[in-house]
Amino acid sequence: MDRQKLESVAQAIVAPGKGVLAADESFPTIEKRLKSINLESTEEYRRGYRELLFTTDGVEEFIGGVITFDETMRHETVDGIPFPELLTSRGIYPGIKVDKGTRDLALYPGEKFTQGLDGLRERLAEYVELGAAFTKWRTVYTIGKDIPTEYGYNANAASLAQYAALCQEAGLVPIVEPEVLMDGDHTIERCEEVTTYALEAVFAELFAAGVSLEGMLLKPNMILSGKDCSVQAGVQEIAEATIRVLKRTVPSAVPGIVFLSGGQTPAQATENLSAMNAIGGFPWQMSFSYGRALQEETLNSWLGKSENVPEAQNVFYRRAKLNSLARYGEYTPELETAAV
Ligand code: 13P
Repeated sequence: MDRQKLESVAQAIVAPGKGVLAADESFPTIEKRLKSINLESTEEYRRGYRELLFTTDGVEEFIGGVITFDETMRHETVDGIPFPELLTSRGIYPGIKVDKGTRDLALYPGEKFTQGLDGLRERLAEYVELGAAFTKWRTVYTIGKDIPTEYGYNANAASLAQYAALCQEAGLVPIVEPEVLMDGDHTIERCEEVTTYALEAVFAELFAAGVSLEGMLLKPNMILSGKDCSVQAGVQEIAEATIRVLKRTVPSAVPGIVFLSGGQTPAQATENLSAMNAIGGFPWQMSFSYGRALQEETLNSWLGKSENVPEAQNVFYRRAKLNSLARYGEYTPELETAAV
């Protein structure tokens, strides 16, 4: 493994002011997103929408990497430029989601297990050929009365570690994504507890697998109240709890933490990130790898119409810039309605 190359790519993706665009929706997920604007999930809508995002002028200032999905990695612009080449030429690292989604964890009701380790080494070799520089693998934890279980934490952590080891062997920077879901009526304290266990298990397995911490990125959830919890924690509480959990569990050798948005609104995700960076005092770049929170407004301005592309690109540029400001703790909610 070329440790130096992995480290320099990982650091470049989270260079100051930059984060990641997660545009790696699988077929079922992109179908859901397109349906939300009354579009059918045709290949041309999927391709055209990604072209809109990837050709937005100036976003390379704020976006260091884009996570794509298998189909998107093989798509090109209308002018015939393959997407990985387009992104690379703009100074944006192309990445690829390599897990195959989750299934029920056998004999553990309510828990999930991520698929896709079989044949992963061979798939990674192909993605390197296609121009990928980094990858993503997501495990999912639902909070319930007696879940996650110790077995659930450990099984998922082991899959993340094996994935990360295979990626580094192939010269790809792994983004390790253990996601504790917001769904449910649990308190912020319970989210803190579960996320702490999940991250503890993940780093124990990464260590056992020999993964270079300097050559990876962590993509965790923020510490939030459950969506249906009657008491919703505020921004400061979220920022403090999230920093506390990460300080307890994430070695300082990891170059960057890139949060998922997980169902927060675009403004919430930006505000929470900014609050953490305003507090500061941690050893990692604290950044974003948002899917919905970076794209929701763009999708809603595009609506599948070519005449809306320029405005949709303005909207995307604006949200990317606001998140870049959040990297410095310089976002304020007033900016939502100001010219940026
Ligand atoms: P969200 O930001 O929409 O949670 O998506 C990020 C992601 O990549 C989930 O796997």
